[in-house]
This record gives sequence, structure tokens and C-alpha cells, in this order.
Amino acid sequence: MLEVKNLDVAYGRIQVIWNLSLNIGNNEVVGVFGPNGAGKSTLINAIVGVVKAKSGEITFDGVPIHNQETHTIARGGIVVVPQNRELFPAMTVKENLRLGAAYIPHARAKMDETIEYVYSLFPILKEREKQLAGTMSGGQQRMLVIGRALMSRPKMLILDEPSLGLQPSLVTEMFQILNRIKQDDMVILLAEQNVRQGLKVIDRGYVMENGRIAMEGSIEELSEDEHIRRAYLGV
Ligand SMILES: Nc1ncnc2c1ncn2[C@@H]1O[C@H](COP(=O)(O)OP(=O)(O)O)[C@@H](O)[C@H]1O
Ligand SMILES: [Mg+2]
Repeated sequence: MLEVKNLDVAYGRIQVIWNLSLNIGNNEVVGVFGPNGAGKSTLINAIVGVVKAKSGEITFDGVPIHNQETHTIARGGIVVVPQNRELFPAMTVKENLRLGAAYIPHARAKMDETIEYVYSLFPILKEREKQLAGTMSGGQQRMLVIGRALMSRPKMLILDEPSLGLQPSLVTEMFQILNRIKQDDMVILLAEQNVRQGLKVIDRGYVMENGRIAMEGSIEELSEDEHIRRAYLGV
């Protein structure tokens, strides 16, 4: 579904992604793990056209997207839940959700149905649908951003460190919800520093270090690798 080939990305003269290739198949949940500064967010921004690739190729369903505008890529079915919450704090929970579907015709047509789906994933959002988004707790706002992303009925959901900054009990809940979204056949790219939790959701993963793919493999290969065990799993 998504194929990144030989991607180089630089901010000005500073290159932060080097000859990176990865792919995500239909119905796959793929992890991109790596420490802070590895280049995970930059990779995501390159996929959705927020930063332009210096060289390389990105295709989605066979269509080159590395020269497309961000809104065109979004309409093509890729949605990102960014690392920083981007809500409309002075609008209600429900208004924020509706906005997720507003600009995508096929999503707008199914708005009511999708809201019910999102409420089934996140009952707290239904309880608080009339509350202003800015008054929700950090964890609830994170859930709202994911809910809003789902409202666009994406073909692929990209999550940039969904567990970052959440208290431990919410981290567990977050990954349980991601597992449910996965069971509903969503294709997911999950960028995470929390490898231990991430391994519970993914089908396959890459480890990114210093802007390069350091390793790729199955859950078993990653969790048994000596370097990964020491650097990310603390065992
Ligand atoms: N807008 C930017 N301008 C310049 N350098 C940046 C910018 N954003 C990120 N970087 C640098 O690029 C590298 C990768 O960052 P990032 O993609 O945010 O990594 P990660 O998401 O894995 O933490 C880091 O060295 C970071 O300092
Ligand atoms: Mg990041």
C-alpha cells in the first residue's frame, strides 16, 4: 500500500534521513521504532508532504505522492495523528470529530455512522461530546485526535508516538484501543519510542537510528535481537 524508496530528507543543509526504504502492505500494522531524534516524525512528515524529500520515491497504492500537496495526499486516504495535539480547543468534542470528516466527501457521507464507531472505541468522547475540547485532560485530547483522524475514513492511519506523555494506565489503554482499530482492518504505521508496548500491536517493524533503518523484522526477530533488548527493552 505504501512504499518508500531510497528517501533522503534534509532541513536546509542538515540531512536527517538517509537512503531510507520501507513498505507497508494492505492490512498490515507496521512499527517504526527509535529514540528521540531518530527521524521518525520527519519520515512521517515526508510521507504526508509536510516536508519535501531531497531524493527518493514515495508511492501510495502505486501512485507517486512525493510531489503531491499535503491536502491531496490526505484526500487520497492517509491521515496522521501528530505528536502534538492539534485540536480546536474552543469547539466541542463532537464538533472536532465532525471536522475530521468535513473535507473528505466519502467520509462526510458516512459521518453519523463513523461517529458511532469512534464513540464505541472511546466511550468517554460520547459522554463528553458537548464539552469544549480544550477542557479535556491530556489523555482524552489524545483520544479525540485519534477519533478525529478516524472520522476521515482513512485507508492508512499514521500515529506519531501516541503514548508519549500519557500516564502508565492510559498507555496500556491506548495500545488496547489501537489493537481494536487494527482488528477492524485498519492499515497503521506506528512510530514509537515505547518498543515494549508497540510490539504488542504491530505485525512487523523497523528500527530507525540516526536517520537510517538499523533493523527490520518480525515481532519475534525484533524482540529477540540483542541490541534491541538492551537498548529498548531494558532486558
Ligand atoms: N524543523 C526542523 N528543522 C531542523 N531540524 C529538525 C527539524 N525537525 C527535526 N529536526 C531534526 O531532525 C532530526 C530528527 O528529528 P525527528 O524527525 O523529530 O525525530 P523523532 O521524531 O524520531 O524524534 C533531529 O536531529 C531533529 O533535531
Ligand atoms: Mg517525533
